[in-house]
Amino acid sequence: MELIRFLVVFLGATFPLFFFSPAEAGEVGVSYGRVANNLPDPATVVKLLQRSGITMVRLYDADPVVLKAFANTGIKVMVMLPNDDLAAAAESRLFALRWARRNVAPHYPATLINGLAVGNEVFEKRPELTQKLVPAMINMQLALAKLGLADAVKVSTPIAFTALKDTYPPSSGRFRDDIAQSVMVPMLQFLVRTGSYLTVNPYPFFAYAENPRDIRLDYALGNYKAGVRDPNTGLVYHSLLDAMMDATHFAVENLTEHLNIRQPLGAGQWRRPNTHYTETGWPSRGKVQPGRPRSSSGRGLDACDGFQPATVANAKAYNNYLVNRILSGQTGTPHHPDADTDIYIFALFNENQKGQGPDDVEQYFGLFHPNMTKVYGFDFHGGALTESWCIANAVVGDQRLQEALDWACGYGADCGPIQPGAKCFEPNTRLAHASYAFNSYYQRNHRAPGTCNFAGAAHVVYRQPKFGNCVLPSNDWIEDPASKSEAYYYAAI
Ligand SMILES: *[C@@H]1O[C@H](CO)[C@@H](O)[C@H](O)[C@H]1NC(C)=O
Ligand SMILES: *[C@@H]1O[C@H](CO)[C@@H](O)[C@H](O)[C@H]1NC(C)=O
Repeated sequence: MELIRFLVVFLGATFPLFFFSPAEAGEVGVSYGRVANNLPDPATVVKLLQRSGITMVRLYDADPVVLKAFANTGIKVMVMLPNDDLAAAAESRLFALRWARRNVAPHYPATLINGLAVGNEVFEKRPELTQKLVPAMINMQLALAKLGLADAVKVSTPIAFTALKDTYPPSSGRFRDDIAQSVMVPMLQFLVRTGSYLTVNPYPFFAYAENPRDIRLDYALGNYKAGVRDPNTGLVYHSLLDAMMDATHFAVENLTEHLNIRQPLGAGQWRRPNTHYTETGWPSRGKVQPGRPRSSSGRGLDACDGFQPATVANAKAYNNYLVNRILSGQTGTPHHPDADTDIYIFALFNENQKGQGPDDVEQYFGLFHPNMTKVYGFDFHGGALTESWCIANAVVGDQRLQEALDWACGYGADCGPIQPGAKCFEPNTRLAHASYAFNSYYQRNHRAPGTCNFAGAAHVVYRQPKFGNCVLPSNDWIEDPASKSEAYYYAAI
């Protein structure tokens, strides 16, 4: 215990820099696709969103009826210039201005339009338009500026995850050679200059469906306890989505560093665009149809007969993981713990005119059936489902765990119960003790963003953890008032 006291004094000065990375929490929204002939009318859909606590949507067009339905609701709306209009917007500033004047200006601010997506997955869906993409974004930005909307409405373009060539391990994330310098560099420059964000559509589902032998299901669903370690950085990933996000971050950083487009903000600080995720989701039934690869591995389907990843249980697990994670403020990644990340779940409804027929998974990404019943349980209100706990990462090694454990005990965690003879001393392992202390610290700080990181030694989970007979508490600050734990603490020293 002498050692603890020493470390508390010694480390106290430096560790808080690591531990308190104040994140502006991101927001979770839903993609409101309408490729179906049986959906409720937009006004009814808006009521459904309000009842469900959904505060942000992404549209695949700028339909005036839909935009009017969102007026005066406070729901944020991202609109889209369709791929079909991309060439015209790139070639004509007048076209761009007319489009923005007709489709955006009349609705704002009654309808809180906060983003304009210029096309969707252009590299993947309309590769011949690739070189038009950035010019179209620039012209749309100029049009919004002319209409006084450039601050409110951020211009971006959702890219498919196939824009990356290397994605594993995350630190080797790189954009494809054919777009890296010709498109991504000018796009990133544009995004930094306009204060906008890169938008990406990552699908752990497709990565898993294409490589079920290499990828574990619980990892794809965001909950692989043991974690996967990136050998280059030592960072530990419990969620394939995190790995995909960091692959994107590393791909961006490779270009910003290399081509010197980062802008200095001050000593040691650099600006890079945030990344938001305009689509991710998991289908509740159907089969992946052979055809375009969706994950960047591009290996195609080698799934064996009977392999069926699109189930209600898996879709429920993944989408609840997303909602709970963002609502509880855990928007960062191992590489960028303080990242401010918006995520849109794909999709609001099952859409019966998508894909290649009623057997295609593309039709079953919805949170709701067209009759507005839920496909499975979820809750955007931040209710009971957003309970979360903090546990240690074994993979960082004993020394880092011990340092972080000592720090947590010295900075407010209740470490009484892990002293010899106390109720959570057994199992007497560093992993169990560190988890107890990290969780206590996290709960006592009301699960604030950045309080379950400990320089990478900890991560958040959404099921109540148990080590032997020791159940990690979820309401530590009520159960054990600080005074009591202090008594424990000093008694133990
Ligand atoms: C970018 O990636 C390439 C290929 O992996 C690598 O050789 C280069 O050093 C990287 N540059 C930076 C600045 O990270
Ligand atoms: C809504 O639609 C789903 C899917 O077609 C169906 O299983 C369910 O029974 C329907 N619920 C109601 C209340 O109509």
